[in-house]
Amino acid sequence: MSKRHKPLVVGNWKMNPATLARAEKIWVDVQKALSGRRGLTEVAIAPPLPFISEIMQLSGPQKIDFVAQDVSYEEGGAFTGEVSVAMLRSIGVKCAIVGHSERRARGENDLDVNKKVQALIASKSAAIVCVGEKERDRSGDYFNQVEEQISKALSGVTPAEMKHVVLAYEPVWAIGTGQSAEGSDVQEMKLFIYKILADLYDRETAEKTRVLYGGSVNADNAASLLEAGTSDGFLVGGASLEAKQFAAIVKAADHYAKFA
Ligand code: PGA
Repeated sequence: MSKRHKPLVVGNWKMNPATLARAEKIWVDVQKALSGRRGLTEVAIAPPLPFISEIMQLSGPQKIDFVAQDVSYEEGGAFTGEVSVAMLRSIGVKCAIVGHSERRARGENDLDVNKKVQALIASKSAAIVCVGEKERDRSGDYFNQVEEQISKALSGVTPAEMKHVVLAYEPVWAIGTGQSAEGSDVQEMKLFIYKILADLYDRETAEKTRVLYGGSVNADNAASLLEAGTSDGFLVGGASLEAKQFAAIVKAADHYAKFA
């Protein structure tokens, strides 16, 4: 079955904090809290766009990547409010989250997600594609929902292009609720996603694709989710705004990578 990957932990700041000064403070604190680690985990943060260039200037020697929380699939032109893949690349951002449930709740559909994935891949940027059911019904229909979201998001994406794709399983009921999924639920979904990818592509591609978990991850549950859930890392919302919590989650992933 699937090999373990280098874990990836991404902090999604969402529409927080309210000011640049506060964002700078969080960023400085995050770097301080992570300093001195020699972990294998890849770390990235997704701050609000207006802050990215500014806080990049305050980056120290640690390798922490910047990710956009969303991106347009349009190349440019009369699209008020939108930001293109090329604009992101021009400030050094080569990855975007797409299909987050908070964007889907505001109207983003599977076709939009697919076009965004295609636009990112076309520029050799990476896509973190979020999928996840709104609720868990007893009949297990949530598996079908996740399968549909994945197959539509990846429509037209070739096996070779899958190296630009990371999947994030984020059950909507677990996001921002303080009620994370159980490790066993994450493991079950991870196996299911592996099977979807093996069917859509092949086993090798399925094995190579990282599947993150997101939904109320914090310093207390990160280690057990990694062990029980065999997830390849996390998409962290609320806890990523607190430097110590975020660092503890990264270190849990480092520890897991060491013993994997
Ligand atoms: P949460 O958010 O960690 O605050 O639940 C996760 C996410 O939305 O990616």
